[in-house]
Amino acid sequence: MKDHKILIAYFSHGGENLVDDEIIDIGPIGNTKKAAQELACQLEALGYKPNLFEIDALIPYPVSYDETNARARQEKEDGAMPLIKDGPNNYELYDTIFLGYPNWWGTAPAPVFSFLRDHQTKGKTLVPFVTHGGQMFMYSLDDIKSAAPEAEIKKGFAIAAAYLSAAPSVIKGWLESNKDYFE
Ligand SMILES: Cc1cc2nc3c(=O)[nH]c(=O)nc-3n(C[C@H](O)[C@H](O)[C@H](O)COP(=O)(O)O)c2cc1C
Repeated sequence: MKDHKILIAYFSHGGENLVDDEIIDIGPIGNTKKAAQELACQLEALGYKPNLFEIDALIPYPVSYDETNARARQEKEDGAMPLIKDGPNNYELYDTIFLGYPNWWGTAPAPVFSFLRDHQTKGKTLVPFVTHGGQMFMYSLDDIKSAAPEAEIKKGFAIAAAYLSAAPSVIKGWLESNKDYFE
C-alpha cells in the first residue's frame, strides 16, 4: 500500500433538489456527501485513513431549490468566491485531495473555487469527483485545472443523482482502475 495522506474535501447541498423535473427535498445529507462517505469507507478498506472535510459557505445556501439555483447562477456569472469556513487542520500534511462537488450550472459550486483559492495545491494530487443531474463533470474539470494550475489532476468518478445507489460500485471500479496509484 502506498502511504498516501488522503483528504476528502467536498461541498454538498442537500435540501431541495430537482429530480426528474420535480423539486423534492432529499434531506440534509446531500448526494455528494453520501458519495464522499462511501469513498472514505472504501479507502479505509484498502488500509488508508482518509479524513473527510465539508466545504461550507459562511453564508449557507437556502434549503429552497429555486433560491439556491438563483444564487448559484449569479455566483457563476460573477465568478464569485464566497467566504468559506476555516479548515481542515493540518492541510499541508495531505498529498492527495479528493475534491467532491455537485455539478451546478455545468461546473463546480462557487465555494469549491473558494477552497482552491485558499488552499495551496502545488505538489498535491487533486482528484475531482462529481455528482450530477445528467451532465457529469461538464466544464468543472477545466475550471478546476485553471483554478489549481500547479496541482497534479487525476480525473475522479461521476455519479448520477438518479443512480446514487450505484455509488459503491462506481467508486469500487474507479479505485480498481487506479490501483497503480493506491496499491
Ligand atoms: C443549484 C443547482 C444547479 C444544478 N445544476 C446542474 C447542472 O447544470 N447539470 C447537472 O447535471 N446537474 C445539475 N444539478 C443537479 C445536481 O448536480 C445533483 O442533483 C447533485 O447530485 C446534487 O448533489 P448534492 O446533494 O451533494 O448537493 C443542479 C442542482 C442544483 C441544486
